Amino acid sequence: MMSNTVRTVVRGCGGYLPERVLTNDDLARMVDTSDSWIAERTGIRERRIAAEGELTSSMGACAARAALDDAGLAPEDVDLIVLATSTPDQTFPATAVTIQAELGITHGAAFDVQAVCSGFVFALATADNYLKSGQFKRALVIGSEAFSRILDWQDRSTCVLFGDGAGALVVEAQKLNGVLTDRGVLAVSLRSDGRYRDKLYVDGGPSSTGTVGHVRMDGPEVFRHAVTKISEVIGSTLTQAGYEASDIDWFVPHQANKRILDGAARRLGLDPARIIVTVDKHANTSAASIPLALAQGRADGRIKTGDLVLLEAMGGGFTWGAVLLRW
Ligand code: ACO
Repeated sequence: MMSNTVRTVVRGCGGYLPERVLTNDDLARMVDTSDSWIAERTGIRERRIAAEGELTSSMGACAARAALDDAGLAPEDVDLIVLATSTPDQTFPATAVTIQAELGITHGAAFDVQAVCSGFVFALATADNYLKSGQFKRALVIGSEAFSRILDWQDRSTCVLFGDGAGALVVEAQKLNGVLTDRGVLAVSLRSDGRYRDKLYVDGGPSSTGTVGHVRMDGPEVFRHAVTKISEVIGSTLTQAGYEASDIDWFVPHQANKRILDGAARRLGLDPARIIVTVDKHANTSAASIPLALAQGRADGRIKTGDLVLLEAMGGGFTWGAVLLRW
């Protein structure tokens, strides 16, 4: 029965949140909004904001250390770092190399992946392919974002939605049996459709304006696409693996908006008690939201070894995707 299929197996998980909490009431003192408007439309109550001098790299490195501790591994045990971020420290070099240097790793490779809120799913899919091909053995897959730095704090339609933070997984190539009950990544689906790139974007960049720019979004249009696109990609990921929605132990979606998560879960017939929700406390931390939610689910004892976990995200581009894995 041993087929020696290489699978990408989770060894450890960690998160990091900046200390400063910004509540909806705090925001109501800055722009014309209210706790009830934000909470009713999005489920968000508060978010964390990076301190001055706190960077995407430093938050990412903290999450990476926590994940390595959880795995019982040292930084030199890792030979690949894939960082998902849309808020790099600099235009270049990749923020992943700063994290690599902060961890004291001098071998292997480190690079960034940019797929906005879907970044973590794309980064995990990238690492999965490298590990399955045998090119690397053990990877840190990190999502880290300082979205507070690219928000227009005068624009109430966007500034209430996002927060800062980081999360990380340590994943490892393991030879398993090639069966559905294996641990590790079991199925992946990635999608992009650039026709929608002007629905959620940043109005600046090196080759266009020479500035960093601010987040701009057509919220109702994003919302309109989110539930259908998410449901389709989840359905095809489950079919690929030969599982059904009722088999899922934990649904860990990108945390953009409670109404989007509930809508997708309803459409798929997922038990609401099986959804890990952090959007109330963290808001939308873009590429960091899934690993932060995983870290939460691990820390409070919900996600256990052997559980079937479905990750899903959608973001600017549009980009969207899903990963089904057994923890
Ligand atoms: N406080 C109070 N009023 C506000 C605020 C605010 N923070 N923001 C907008 N409004 C007002 C608008 O000006 C508008 O007023 P008007 O009717 O007088 O013109 C009214 O509220 C309704 O605005 P809409 O944008 O139509 O509100 P909607 O019900 O669509 O909710 C929201 C907005 C929450 C952004 C919703 O569209 C949404 O969640 N979209 C998805 C966006 C998202 O989650 N993006 C994250 C990244 S993408 C992803 O990760 C999936």
